[in-house]
Amino acid sequence: MDGPLRLLTLDDAPAMADLYAREAEFLAPWDPARDAEWATTAVQRTTIARQLSELRAGRSVPFGIVVDGELVGRLNLSGIMLGPARTANLGYFVAQSHNGRGLATAAVRAAAEHAFRELRLHRLQAATLPENAPSQRVLAKAGFERIGFAPSYLHINGAWRDHVLFQLVAPE
Ligand SMILES: CC(C)(COP(=O)(O)OP(=O)(O)OC[C@H]1O[C@@H](n2cnc3c(N)ncnc32)[C@H](O)[C@@H]1OP(=O)(O)O)[C@@H](O)C(=O)NCCC(=O)NCCS
Repeated sequence: MDGPLRLLTLDDAPAMADLYAREAEFLAPWDPARDAEWATTAVQRTTIARQLSELRAGRSVPFGIVVDGELVGRLNLSGIMLGPARTANLGYFVAQSHNGRGLATAAVRAAAEHAFRELRLHRLQAATLPENAPSQRVLAKAGFERIGFAPSYLHINGAWRDHVLFQLVAPE
């Protein structure tokens, strides 16, 4: 895998727990509400194990975002659908300490490359909160286009929240 992405393994659970603990305040406005156990090795191990079983079933691809060997973020392709859709949802975060260096953009580009070349998907979809300007900028830089507005779309930070929808279609 090119760029800052690599597949997560069960061995990443302690580093992922540390990352979520450090970034809890930064991520809170953009993430589902997390219970107190979320930033623990045990829960991260269970979560990664579930995602790896979804990977084997062809439904998800769980990537870590890595710089100089250090795990600084996460990117998931999830809800992979084949048939006439050939689509997946894209979600990601990068630690606040590593923001503003083009890392999320590089990760999204690498994920799109993987989705289109390896998985032969036709399309990726991402959803952001209307006020998430940095994430919308990341998607724009990676070539995504705004396709709509979805009222009450995802349960984020304790409430059902409207989202802006974006897509990237595979090049011909
Ligand atoms: C959004 C996020 C992934 C960005 O990561 P990053 O590695 O800093 O992203 P990049 O450096 O690739 O690009 C960020 C872009 O947003 C821009 N930006 C930052 N703050 C901004 C703001 N308040 N308004 C507009 N643009 C902003 C940056 O200038 C940069 O664009 P540029 O290259 O044109 O200057 C990261 O901040 C994050 O994880 N946030 C919390 C979780 C989250 O929002 N995940 C996405 C959910 S949809």
